[in-house]
This record gives sequence, structure tokens and C-alpha cells, in this order.
Amino acid sequence: MSDQKTLILVKPDGVARGLVGEVIARIERKGFTVEALELRTLERSVAEEHYAEHTERPFFGELVDFITSAPLVAMCVSGDDAIVSMRNIMGATNPVEATPGSIRGDFATIIGENIVHGSDSPESAARELELFFPGRF
Ligand code: RTP
Ligand code: MG
Repeated sequence: MSDQKTLILVKPDGVARGLVGEVIARIERKGFTVEALELRTLERSVAEEHYAEHTERPFFGELVDFITSAPLVAMCVSGDDAIVSMRNIMGATNPVEATPGSIRGDFATIIGENIVHGSDSPESAARELELFFPGRF
């Protein structure tokens, strides 16, 4: 067990559908803490840096278009093993495979609009938190 911080995004689809409260409720119900929270529309450059690992993928352009299309909610979430635990709460990337009871399993149907993002490793969490909340964590 280790105390971790992770970057969680409620993506533009989640914000537009009024699911911010639902996502935060699940985070808090689990016992995790929201350490910082901001509603913002991402600059393209920030989105490209955030998803830098996917630069060469065929869906990269659509991914950046989507994540910059409207406001999202960015959060720093902390708690015991928060990185992997939040990935479990989110569910699989493709909502078709996401378990019912997970956020994506309960609220999403297509991979390109899957409501939430969560850092996938300690290295990603550190990099992404610095990108969204520079100097704070
Ligand atoms: P995220 O980074 O957004 O939390 O999602 P993830 O780790 O579960 O999945 P990742 O592999 O990092 O993919 C990032 C986002 O790209 C979109 N995607 N589209 N069309 C496709 O085949 C495809 N594959 C991935 C998804 O919206 C995914 O969340
Ligand atoms: Mg990812």
C-alpha cells in the first residue's frame, strides 16, 4: 500500500452530460481525497503534451480535437494506491469491455467518449500533475 496522487479528468463528454458530480461522488465514496480541481478548456499544445504517448496513433488528431472541444474538469486525487485503484473505478478504456459498476461501464458506449481519464502509472501521474497543476504536487 502506498499513498499516491493521480490526475483524473472528467472529459468534455462527461462535463457536457452533467456527470461531474457523479464522478466526484464515486471518488469520495471510495475514500479518496480531491486535492485540487479546475474547470478549463485545454489549449491544443497542452492536450498534445498530455497525450504525447499517442502521437503516432491514427486516432491522435481526433483525440486532441475531442479533449480540446469544450471544458473539462481536472483533479488531483490522493489516497492509498490511488493510481491503479482509480483505473479500476474508471473501468476499461473501451466501454464495451468496461465492467458494469465502473464509470465507463455505467455511463459510456464508445471508446472515443469514455467520460474520464486517469494516470496509468506513477511516472505518468507525476508528469501529468506537473502539466495540469505546475509546482503544486
Ligand atoms: P485515458 O488516457 O484517456 O485515461 O484512457 P486510457 O488510458 O484508458 O486509454 P489510452 O490507451 O491512453 O487512450 C487514450 C484515449 O484515446 C482514445 N482511444 N481511441 N479509436 C481507438 O482505437 C482509440 N483507442 C484509444 C480513448 O478515448 C482513450 O481514452
Ligand atoms: Mg491513457
